[in-house]
Amino acid sequence: MSRIVISGTGLFTPGESISNEELVSSFNTYVDNYNSKHEKEIGEGKLEAKEKSSVEFIEKASGIKSRFVMDKAGVLDPEVMCPRIPARSNGNASIQCDMSVAAAKEAMEQAGKSPEDIDAVIVACSNMERPYPAMAIEIQNALGIDGFGFDMNVACSTATFGIQTAVDSVFRNSAKAVLMVNPEICSGHLNFKDRDSHFIFGDVCTAVIIEKEETCQRKDPFEIIATKLKTRFSNNIRNNFGFLNRADPDGVGTKDKLFVQQGRKVFKEVVPLAAELITGHLAEHRIKPEDIRRIWLHQANMNMNQLICKKIMGTEITHDLAPTILDTYANTASAGSVICFHKYNEDLKEDDIGVICSFGAGYSIGNVIVRKIAL
Ligand code: COA
Repeated sequence: MSRIVISGTGLFTPGESISNEELVSSFNTYVDNYNSKHEKEIGEGKLEAKEKSSVEFIEKASGIKSRFVMDKAGVLDPEVMCPRIPARSNGNASIQCDMSVAAAKEAMEQAGKSPEDIDAVIVACSNMERPYPAMAIEIQNALGIDGFGFDMNVACSTATFGIQTAVDSVFRNSAKAVLMVNPEICSGHLNFKDRDSHFIFGDVCTAVIIEKEETCQRKDPFEIIATKLKTRFSNNIRNNFGFLNRADPDGVGTKDKLFVQQGRKVFKEVVPLAAELITGHLAEHRIKPEDIRRIWLHQANMNMNQLICKKIMGTEITHDLAPTILDTYANTASAGSVICFHKYNEDLKEDDIGVICSFGAGYSIGNVIVRKIAL
C-alpha cells in the first residue's frame, strides 16, 4: 500500500505586527475614554467601570508577546478597535485568496509541484469572508488548478481535520495531490474591547500539500502514519455570527457575534481531552511517548501546552520537543500547529516521528502522526 506524505508547506505572514505594549496602550486609552464618557452612570451604579489590561498579565497567562495583523492602524485606533479592510470588488481577488496564494506558492515550490500536478484545494479555517462561492474555488482559479475545491470549518482544529480529509481523498484516489490552506484573519472576529480576550489572536496563512509517495518529488517528505479526530459539543468557545442574524435585527452587532470564550473552563476541559487523544492514538500505533521526536502543538496558550506535554511525556516542555510561535504570532486558530511544523521540521532525521495536534472550539481535537522518510 502506498504511503501518503506531506511533501510541502508554506507560510504567509502579514507585514504588520502589534506588540503587547501597543495593544494594551490602545485598550487602556479606550477604557479611560469609556469610563470618563460614562462617569455619571458609573457613579450611579447603572454601568460598571471598565478595567485596564496589562502587558504582564497577557504574557504570563498566555505566552503571547505580539501578533501579526492584516491592518494594524484600525486595531490600535481606540475609536475603531477593529481591522479596517476595504471590501474588494468582485473582479478583484479576495483578501483570503491573496494570502492563500502566497502560502500555497511556497508549499508548491517546496513540494516541486506545478498547478497541473494538483487536483484538489481545501480551504480549512475558522472564518470565511463570504459564504459562497467557496474560497477554495477562487484560489483554485487563481493558481490555475484543475479539479475541485471546497471550504471547511472546524475552528481551531480545521487544519488537522483538513489533513485527514486530504489523506482520505488521496487514499481513495478522488484526488492525486491536495493543496490544503488555512487563511486565518482572526483579528476580524476578535473583540478588541474585551479585556479577557483582546490579546489572543493574530492573522496568518499556512498551506500543506498532501499526496502519495509515487508522485512525491521531495526526497525527504513526512509520511502521514495516522490521523485521529474527536469532537465534543461545548458552548465555552462560541461565535453567533451568521446568515440568520438579520432575521433578528435586535441582535445585530452584539458581543456574541464575535469570539467569546470561558477561558478558564476551556483550559481545564481541553487539556485532558487533547492529552488523552494523543496518548491513545500513539498507543493504537504502538508508539511510545519517548519515541516522539517533536510535537507541533496547537498554539493557543503556553501554559496549556506545558500541561499537555507533561501529561503525555511526563517531562517539561522544551523548544526542541514542542516549539512555540505564540510569542510572535499569538493564537492563529487552525494555522498555529502548521506554522510550528513549517518552521521546525528540517532538523528531524529519517525515521524521526512527530505529532501535529490541534484543539479548540467545538470542542474539536485533531491529531496527525508523521514520520520523516527518505525517498
Ligand atoms: N489584563 C489584566 N488582567 C486580566 C486581563 C487582562 N487583559 N484579563 C483578565 N484579567 C484578570 C481577571 O480579571 C482575573 O482577575 P481576578 O483574579 O482578580 O478575578 C485574572 O486576570 C485571571 O483571569 P482568568 O481569565 O482566570 O485568566 P487565565 O489565567 O485563565 O488566562 C486565558 C486567560 C484566556 C489566557 C486562558 O484561560 C486561556 O488561554 N484559556 C484557553 C484559551 C483557549 O485555548 N482558547 C481557544 C481559543 S481557539
